Amino acid sequence: MTTSTDFIVNRANLPEGTFVTTQLNELGPGQILLRVDKFALTANNITYGAAGDTIGYWKFFPAKDGWGRIPVWGYAEIVASKNEAIPAGERVYGYLPMSTHVIVDAARVTPSTFIDGAGHRAALPPVYNQYLRVGADQAYFSGREDEIALYRPLFSTSFLIDDFLAENDFFGARNVVLTSASSKTALGLAQLLHDHRKGQVKVIGLTSPGNLHFVERTGYYDRIVLYADVKELDARTPTLMVDFAGDTKLRAAIHTHFADQLKYSCIVGATHWESLARGAGSVAGANAERTPLPGAKPIFFFAPDRIVKRSADWGNAALTKRIGEALFAFAASAKPWMRVVEGRGHSAVEKVYGDFINGKTNPAEGHILSL
Ligand SMILES: NC(=O)c1ccc[n+]([C@@H]2O[C@H](COP(=O)([O-])OP(=O)(O)OC[C@H]3O[C@@H](n4cnc5c(N)ncnc54)[C@H](OP(=O)(O)O)[C@@H]3O)[C@@H](O)[C@H]2O)c1
Repeated sequence: MTTSTDFIVNRANLPEGTFVTTQLNELGPGQILLRVDKFALTANNITYGAAGDTIGYWKFFPAKDGWGRIPVWGYAEIVASKNEAIPAGERVYGYLPMSTHVIVDAARVTPSTFIDGAGHRAALPPVYNQYLRVGADQAYFSGREDEIALYRPLFSTSFLIDDFLAENDFFGARNVVLTSASSKTALGLAQLLHDHRKGQVKVIGLTSPGNLHFVERTGYYDRIVLYADVKELDARTPTLMVDFAGDTKLRAAIHTHFADQLKYSCIVGATHWESLARGAGSVAGANAERTPLPGAKPIFFFAPDRIVKRSADWGNAALTKRIGEALFAFAASAKPWMRVVEGRGHSAVEKVYGDFINGKTNPAEGHILSL
């Protein structure tokens, strides 16, 4: 019988994490056993934990009562298979737990993909249930797995936001303000706007004092302002906000400052996760802000929904190819100031997780971990 080591966190107190050993069941018909090889850990995964109940992230990889397994993106090997369509020995990319092993009910197997058809995942967004077989992945290069694991889920979102805003002619805005400007998802969007929308919009980054110089180094932003200095921004110019920080006070300050000139308020993330975990903030709940704010109503941007739309418009393969090409252009341009840091074992996972929880991470590092 196989055992798995799982990193679990207290759902009511995210800073508390621990490792447990779980006995896995024998594989049933159609099931495969994945050995998790490596995964990226960024603020995005902490947001999964903070929004675990509202968006349903705890449902992917169940844990004992009161505890949860935060999902991550990465690579795994199929080490045993009871599914004729997908043999042991293959390598796959997808949504994984921070564990050594996980069982997947492989269903809807095609030459390039399959899904986890387990009942507990059935109602969750399809993009999270799909696994890519690397042999047929349009955007796979074996020497670039770390970059792909790190950037793919984040940069795909950057790409889809850029596409969405451009499709809507930036809602009439001339300035785009990005909060948590040092986050990888914001940087991906800033790079796309900087490289492809010049003349249409100016890109303004908001960040914390410790990350100011890093954000300047990237060269993607026309202007960078500290959170405390929102009032220095020109409130006469039509502006839209893309909010990655999820800090309710900051969001209110931006709405109040721009008032009617805030043409769109795009809520994407909650890197400042405590606001969200306290129930004060709102990622998915953005559309129902408790006290209406001045300016445009905040609207939650959920990448999986936009993927469904663009897959229908362009076809899945074309969408993957377009995002893949743009991702490698971003990764190349990020090389001078972003380095991949690999970590192995319990202490590495605990340390990186704790640093994200406590806001102590270096934005110039991208963490690839394994247990
Ligand atoms: N809606 C969607 O579909 C979707 C998809 C992808 C990502 N997202 C969201 O986008 C956000 C960015 O994710 P990412 O993985 O790109 O982030 P990341 O690169 O790991 O971001 C790191 C940055 O986040 C801020 N930060 C991190 N931990 C913090 C803490 N504990 N307290 C305060 N600030 C903290 C800091 O930026 P500053 O100092 O600049 O604030 C830090 O430099 C996440 O909330 C993620 O969930 C949403």
